[in-house]
Amino acid sequence: MNPISENLGFEPPKAVATAWVVDGAIDTRHGPILYMEDVSVSFDGFKALNNMSLYIDEGELRCLIGPNGAGKTTLMDVITGKTRPDSGSVFFGQTINLLKMDEPAIAQAGICRKFQKPSVFDALTVFENLELALKANKSTWHSLFFRLTTEQCDRINDVLLTIGLSGCSQQRAGILSHGQKQWLEIGMLLMQEPKVMLVDEPIAGMTHQEIERTAELLLSLQGKHSLVVVEHDMEFVRSIASKVTVLHEGTVLTEGTMDEVQNDPRVIQVYLGGSC
Ligand SMILES: Nc1ncnc2c1ncn2[C@@H]1O[C@H](COP(=O)(O)OP(=O)(O)O)[C@@H](O)[C@H]1O
Ligand SMILES: [Mg+2]
Repeated sequence: MNPISENLGFEPPKAVATAWVVDGAIDTRHGPILYMEDVSVSFDGFKALNNMSLYIDEGELRCLIGPNGAGKTTLMDVITGKTRPDSGSVFFGQTINLLKMDEPAIAQAGICRKFQKPSVFDALTVFENLELALKANKSTWHSLFFRLTTEQCDRINDVLLTIGLSGCSQQRAGILSHGQKQWLEIGMLLMQEPKVMLVDEPIAGMTHQEIERTAELLLSLQGKHSLVVVEHDMEFVRSIASKVTVLHEGTVLTEGTMDEVQNDPRVIQVYLGGSC
């Protein structure tokens, strides 16, 4: 332990300690914010990803679709460090090699993941959930020992506005609707100021109104964050996507606008020929 950690009784997050990322300095001058090239992942000889390449630009909202088993979840597992590929490269900006980092370091560097099932703290208020997420942030880990500053309160209030929950900030999260819980969890991720957000099936179980609101929310986040959204609901994908990537058998089948991919005979074949 270094002298600072000794005082605090715990180690600061690894990414901070090793300074892979100087605050905000992801080098995207010559290309995408996130890319993987020729990535393969095998499970007992079966290739879940097969020479997969994907390039995500800064601020873009990309939708990933594809039949069950296409490799969508495995792709997210590789980006977040949960699964190590057999071959290929995965970079954050031009200089940060994600394959050399573990899961917590990748999260600290600014790539976060929203799983399908919301995992908010039911017993805490909406505001307290966001406060907790703020304190988990790398740049404010020391703030565990301090009260919220005015600036931090303002940030929580900004996020409450973004996720549309300002009116229920003092309600316990346990009484929120399913959709509201999903938005709160997105808010908790936003407190950590992620550069890239990976969002897995955000509208599962939502009402029609909640789906519309989620589309607005995700659209409002693009530009400030890069988003990769996996979703099965084609109407929803159409409502948010400018560019869609279709995965099939562990590789990219095609990419383009929703109209382009939906009219691609290979995509039609894959969806009609298999389960989706
Ligand atoms: N841990 C694992 N062990 C064995 N096979 C796996 C594992 N994870 C995924 N697979 C297989 O890899 C393929 C891709 O899975 P997945 O990435 O979950 O697809 P998707 O999310 O597109 O439905 C599937 O055939 C799945 O059965
Ligand atoms: Mg999946």
